[in-house]
Amino acid sequence: MAEEKLYVSYNTVHKLIKKLAGKIIESGFDPDVIVAIGSGGFIPARILKTFINRPIYAVGISYYGIDHKHREHPTKIQWIDEVQEQLKGKKVLLIDEVDDTRATLAYCVGELLSYQPEEIAVLILHNKLKQKDVEFPPEIKRYYPAMEVEDIWIKYPWDAEDIDEHERLEKEMFERMKKDGKELFI
Ligand code: G4P
Ligand code: MG
Repeated sequence: MAEEKLYVSYNTVHKLIKKLAGKIIESGFDPDVIVAIGSGGFIPARILKTFINRPIYAVGISYYGIDHKHREHPTKIQWIDEVQEQLKGKKVLLIDEVDDTRATLAYCVGELLSYQPEEIAVLILHNKLKQKDVEFPPEIKRYYPAMEVEDIWIKYPWDAEDIDEHERLEKEMFERMKKDGKELFI
């Protein structure tokens, strides 16, 4: 259903990241640093640090500037300054919550590549299976989505005004999925 929403609790975010961290380690990728794209990537990055303990650099990229005005393209609202030198020759694990149009992610990858890291791998909670506005450059060889989803709106727990209601809606969604014989994803 087009208006259906995917409710995701903190608990689910934690489990998805734990599972993905295992896959990243298994795949042989051993990052030197984590770069989190804010704000959606901040909480996932901190959870990831529990399983892959590396320093986290935070960057803020948004369609909205600090003046809250909507822009045509993603813009930097906060960036790595004095530490950008430290990305040279490093293996970077870039993390965000969702790969939707890919505009923010691809923009961030492009900027980070200018610091000549050895490699950038991309980790996201959800990849929406849809036509992307932009593709990643060929330098991106490792891409780790915790889940592939159809083009539906995802409700993240950090956006919830009532977290108990949010959790209840996730449970209700799981029950519906079970009844419909759909596979549960955690
Ligand atoms: P992409 O590179 O990750 O595909 O991001 P894109 O520029 O297409 O996304 C624009 C904004 O829309 C991003 O927020 C992204 O997090 C948000 N977004 C896209 N799909 C969903 C969804 O299904 N659910 C929710 N909750 N958000 C979605 P942003 O400008 O980076 O803001 P922030 O919330 O990360 O601070
Ligand atoms: Mg985001």
